[in-house]
Amino acid sequence: MTDVLTHRLARYWVARWARCQDRYADYRVERTEVICDILASAIPAGSEPAVVLDLGCGPGDLTALLAERLPGTRVIGVDRDPFLVALGRVAYPGLEFQVADVVGADAAEVVSRWGAPAAIVASAVLHYPPAAQLRALVGVCARALRPGGVFVDADHMPPRHPGLRDIVTALAAESPNPSSDTWEAWWRATRSEPAFNRLLAERDRMLAPHTGDNDLSLEDRIAVLNESGLSAGPVWQRGRSVLLAGIRDGACARIE
Ligand SMILES: C[S@@+](CC[C@H](N)C(=O)[O-])C[C@H]1O[C@@H](n2cnc3c(N)ncnc32)[C@H](O)[C@@H]1O
Repeated sequence: MTDVLTHRLARYWVARWARCQDRYADYRVERTEVICDILASAIPAGSEPAVVLDLGCGPGDLTALLAERLPGTRVIGVDRDPFLVALGRVAYPGLEFQVADVVGADAAEVVSRWGAPAAIVASAVLHYPPAAQLRALVGVCARALRPGGVFVDADHMPPRHPGLRDIVTALAAESPNPSSDTWEAWWRATRSEPAFNRLLAERDRMLAPHTGDNDLSLEDRIAVLNESGLSAGPVWQRGRSVLLAGIRDGACARIE
């Protein structure tokens, strides 16, 4: 074991993170491919340089894939977790990352820092903020997008009706990697990696734990996007796993 966070070590931990995420995000690989397709269609090759934000990027495996699939685009990963961002920076030295809380008071400044984004992606993130904070965040993103820009929300979104909820739950994917870490096991394992000691100590100092999920339904999540002024709807779904896309057509009203 080494106490230096090398590129190789970071890649090992990011790959282990991705296998862990596969347990939780049903059909994650397919969903991720569709995110790339949506962005490729929203940002035609050869169009003027575009900014894409990956909100709640974790250690950046999706960020890196987007950058690979959208050459010439500036893809930036943003996450509140300084440890995951540090891991991403070493794993993907060519990518840009920012440590920021996107539901904080300075969310508008964070999402506009690199100019008006052509696309903003949030994958497995928007189930965290309470409803009011989610509405504020989506409103901020809708206003920050350039006209014609797209907002993509990828997550588990159970429908409101209990019967439909049961149906989509029954369609849940089997984990493609049953022996992968659970969320808790991945985080526990990081504690036995000497190269992480300083970074995890910083994380412990900086980061308050999540307080739970907002439990919003599929219908609620679509409404949040539309109420923010985006023209939004589902573009892909397999069981509980859904991709919503919202286009910014024109001016977006401020929702309080
Ligand atoms: C389940 S992980 C998903 C990571 C990645 N987007 C993916 O699809 O694999 C959720 C991520 O969202 C980040 N996150 C949650 N709330 C956030 C917030 N308010 N601001 C920024 N990042 C946040 C967490 O730190 C974590 O990295």
